Amino acid sequence: MSVSQFVMRRPDDWHLHLRDGHMLGAVIGHSSANFARAIIMPNLVPPVVTTEQAAQYKQRIISRIPAGHEFEPLMTLYLTEETRIEDVKAGAQSGLIKALKLYPAGATTNSDSGVTDFDNVIPLLESMAEIGLPLLVHGEVTDSDIDIFDREAVFIERVLHPIRNRVPDLRVVMEHVTTSDGVDYVLSQGDNIAATITTHHLIINRNAYLVGGVKPHYYCLPVAKREEHRLALVAAATSGNSKFFLGTDSAPHLDGAKISACGCAGIYTSINTLNCLAHVFEDNDALDNLECFASLNGPAFYRLPVNEERLKFSRSDEPVSFPEQISVQNDHVTVFDPGFPLFWQHEPTNALEV
Ligand code: NCD
Ligand code: ZN
Repeated sequence: MSVSQFVMRRPDDWHLHLRDGHMLGAVIGHSSANFARAIIMPNLVPPVVTTEQAAQYKQRIISRIPAGHEFEPLMTLYLTEETRIEDVKAGAQSGLIKALKLYPAGATTNSDSGVTDFDNVIPLLESMAEIGLPLLVHGEVTDSDIDIFDREAVFIERVLHPIRNRVPDLRVVMEHVTTSDGVDYVLSQGDNIAATITTHHLIINRNAYLVGGVKPHYYCLPVAKREEHRLALVAAATSGNSKFFLGTDSAPHLDGAKISACGCAGIYTSINTLNCLAHVFEDNDALDNLECFASLNGPAFYRLPVNEERLKFSRSDEPVSFPEQISVQNDHVTVFDPGFPLFWQHEPTNALEV
């Protein structure tokens, strides 16, 4: 018999772009309404590279959280070849810094300050391994001769595996894994590596942005791959395996920047992510594992407590509607359209079960 209601712990988002200024103000409420905590990506312009900058950014985020919402931003630093070990250690010891983000230089939006020569960061990675601070990797090589659809697999072979061999105790999250190669790699390794999976990569394949005209609102990095890869991601996410957890990678860009001859990468899903996920998990007879994916596996990897609050999900008879766009200053951010109606909705509850 199909379930029409269930209760689960309030989820967290382990990979989120909140931006700054007006954009931050426009999007923060969607995350704080749905999630208890989020790992905040540091790719601002300029990037968040010091503990001091992270502390200031955290205050700017907190100041924009709507009244009545409980939400904790978990701060990260953008790893550069100049990052100072002492600053990282102090940030981690104070509890402010929860991870460092590694962008290969030029891999994605605002990644120009990323790492070019990985040898230069090995001493820092060794210090991170000592204190158990996770390294979050954007797992794509940037070499111009590597096809964009192969960049994740090549990154694993040429960069990630060698780094992990040199620093075996380093704790790593492969962010927004998009291929069966990524899933298989994470599954084949020990418990110091895990992966986040986005909402949109569970739903779209590469047809979404290429068939019937170029669709900029389905363009993100890493790009969505073939259907067989999407199916591998769905299998991993819905399995309940503790190595996989939700990182929405919700990445708002103004429509003016996306609908362009050189459009920005990023898909905005904070507002309807949980509704989309419930749909995907139900479709795969895995609603029982949604709590593992969205609320339990992430805190376990990050060695943080799970949330005590609960959400009650209900399947309605009529589709739940979301705005197609949200306003930001004089422009819009387009909301992710999964391409099917959403029937699951949720609300806070004091009950532990239905
Ligand atoms: C992200 C962004 O816009 O900051 N874009 C994206 O397509 N995911 C950057 C990133 O996470 O790669
Ligand atoms: Zn991202």
